[in-house]
Amino acid sequence: MSWRIFTLEKYGDNILRIWKKGKNKTYAIVADKSTILRPKKTNNINIYELGRIRISIDEQQKIMLEYEEEKFLDGHVSDGELGFVWFFTYPRSASIYGLGEKGGRLNRVGRKYLLVNREQGIFFSNPDVDPLHANVPFFIINKDNKKFLGVFINNSWHAKVDFSRRGKGVLMFTGGFFDVFFIIGNNIREIIESYTHITGRPPLPPIWAFGYQQSHWGYSSKEKIMRIAKKFRDMGIPCDIIYLDIDYMHRAKIFTWNTDAFPKPREMIDVLHKMGFKIVVIVDPFIKVDERYQLYKYSKWKNYLVRNKRGKIILVKGWPGKSAIPDLLNPDVAKWWGMLYYLFHKKYGVDGFWNDMNEPSEIVSVYTRDTKFRPGLFFDGKRYHQFKEIGNIFGLLENKAVHETFRRRNRRVFILSRSGFAGVQRYAVLWTGDIWSSWIHLAKSIIMLLSMGISGLPFVGADIGGFAPKYFRVDKELFVRWIQLGTFYPIMRNHYTKWKPSQEPWSFDKKTLRISKNFIRLRYRLIPYLYSLAYMSYKKGYPIMRPLFFDFPEDNVSYSIETEFMFGPWLLIAPILRKKQRKRKVYLPRGKWFDFWDPTKTFKNGIVEYYCGIERIPIFIRDGAIIPTQKPLDYIGKEKIDTINIDIYIDSAKESSWIIYEDDGETYDYERGKYNLWVIQMKNMSNKTRVSVINKHKKYDGHLTKINIRILTMKKIRNIIINNTVSDYKYEDNIVSIDNISLRTNNNIMLKFSI
Ligand code: GLC
Repeated sequence: MSWRIFTLEKYGDNILRIWKKGKNKTYAIVADKSTILRPKKTNNINIYELGRIRISIDEQQKIMLEYEEEKFLDGHVSDGELGFVWFFTYPRSASIYGLGEKGGRLNRVGRKYLLVNREQGIFFSNPDVDPLHANVPFFIINKDNKKFLGVFINNSWHAKVDFSRRGKGVLMFTGGFFDVFFIIGNNIREIIESYTHITGRPPLPPIWAFGYQQSHWGYSSKEKIMRIAKKFRDMGIPCDIIYLDIDYMHRAKIFTWNTDAFPKPREMIDVLHKMGFKIVVIVDPFIKVDERYQLYKYSKWKNYLVRNKRGKIILVKGWPGKSAIPDLLNPDVAKWWGMLYYLFHKKYGVDGFWNDMNEPSEIVSVYTRDTKFRPGLFFDGKRYHQFKEIGNIFGLLENKAVHETFRRRNRRVFILSRSGFAGVQRYAVLWTGDIWSSWIHLAKSIIMLLSMGISGLPFVGADIGGFAPKYFRVDKELFVRWIQLGTFYPIMRNHYTKWKPSQEPWSFDKKTLRISKNFIRLRYRLIPYLYSLAYMSYKKGYPIMRPLFFDFPEDNVSYSIETEFMFGPWLLIAPILRKKQRKRKVYLPRGKWFDFWDPTKTFKNGIVEYYCGIERIPIFIRDGAIIPTQKPLDYIGKEKIDTINIDIYIDSAKESSWIIYEDDGETYDYERGKYNLWVIQMKNMSNKTRVSVINKHKKYDGHLTKINIRILTMKKIRNIIINNTVSDYKYEDNIVSIDNISLRTNNNIMLKFSI
């Protein structure tokens, strides 16, 4: 007898896809190399094996997954009229991470969630409110920090996830097929790498995306923008991006300008460019219903707007009032949509786009939690689809359309998007929407961003200082703490709502300004490190801001830490999250740690109590760290950087390595090999230390010609030799610096010394 309900495919050695009836088209998947697995059959049970896992499926759709001979997932799938429900058990002691942008706890066990992209408006006063704008149907089950299983449901239909009962999971999808990937890995890092193999890794954003970004709903005229821009430069506060919110448009009509407030926008932008700013403009997916408005007339005539069953255009309340929504599922519409952005960029010189409200969200949802798109039908060129299927990928489709238009022209476009789904990392960076100015939101921004990182979205940020509520002045202490934390957000943007007192770094007092400026400058010093981390995100999908257990998988305590995080492999950030707090307890995982503010101090692993005052937050550097830094500039690219410092911290670490990465920062030529990569390696054996800088790839005619190596250690350093000759060095405050080592004359550098 032969039966087959499910088809199993393997993607490499550790990824298995199971689908029933068909595969869902979600635009999330990029991996295509798979092979069908044939089952062994015994007693009406089909058994599939892949490495350490074994899956048995019977005719009642009972699916059991064994992981190294231990039952790991056991459940069944039952089909509804539409969609399906999947009940399963998993090890009771397990914790679960992922699901995209969500507050709550990092461990998702103990709650129910919706996978429905939604704006929460005033309900976001509770940072744990669910759902938010960017849901990802992917989670990782962690049993005892030893066995890890990634589960990705390739289905964009609105869904419910119930993890409220320990050891039991229920997933309810309102439509589509059962189409699930199982990913096996030895730790979270491997799972994320495989998950992003399936759903894609982010391309590098333009390098200036990593600078400081200033935004406000209320920069409503050319004068205001110019005043802000000038202030940054006059005060020497580094800044790369200024945003234009809906204020720049004529009556909120997208792709128009309010030329009363912004006369000659091209000229204004040219001046801002000369001052070193990049301009990012907001675009909402609302097309104003107005017969005199070209965009509306054209899109209606072309049948590009979302309609209901009876063929009537669905009307929503957008910023411009009565509006229609572009049907971005339709490939013709997507092409046209992308082109609108490109032409706007060409005509006015804007450098990037801020795709907001793309859940899509109506203005009314702010008060009612409701969305009216339900009767809307989306057309993929062949068939109609319901909103329940498309809502979660609407933002993804929008970002994809824009990204691809620019990519065809070899220009990295910066897109900041509010909504997203699995795979959106290929097109846009995300932020957490209208977060509130409160201490609790400050703390919860960490959970949201860590969770997004685990869910394949490395380039993320939250509004520094908090966006909402109206009329509320963020207190200066909270602002300082937010700038300090935000320095280590992958995307560092200060944004706040209209009707709120100003929130730029100079809006408080001198002290706040000084501290903010110091931190923003620190951010700019770290740009080479940040860019090398971005390169790792592009290569492997690794998050930049990540939980301690990403870097210390064998450390059991690290799995329970939610108020600290790693910024790449070398920096541990322990922000201050409470008012009047001047010190905090910090958990340090295995190994020795240096105090970032005073590297003559080292700490052993365990819990330390750290006093930091208001000027600082606790930051620790891992023993063995190799951190590329540069001098801070007013904006990235102000000068061609020819020298990079490589700061190496050595206590008892035996070996470590890191990279320096360089490319043009604005095209996709790096994907065709035009980049430079050096690998720095430190080996420390029986008091003899070697540091090598090896040129692994040199195909880009870049600017980097010199490095300064700085060794920070408490131990005495002797006999420094570079490439076999005794070298000059400086010794000051326990730092040995060897400056101006040429990367031109030395293809590879070998530094040796005794400790
Ligand atoms: C939404 C965005 C917010 C923006 C506002 C006006 O609330 O999340 O960032 O300022 O719309 O465009």
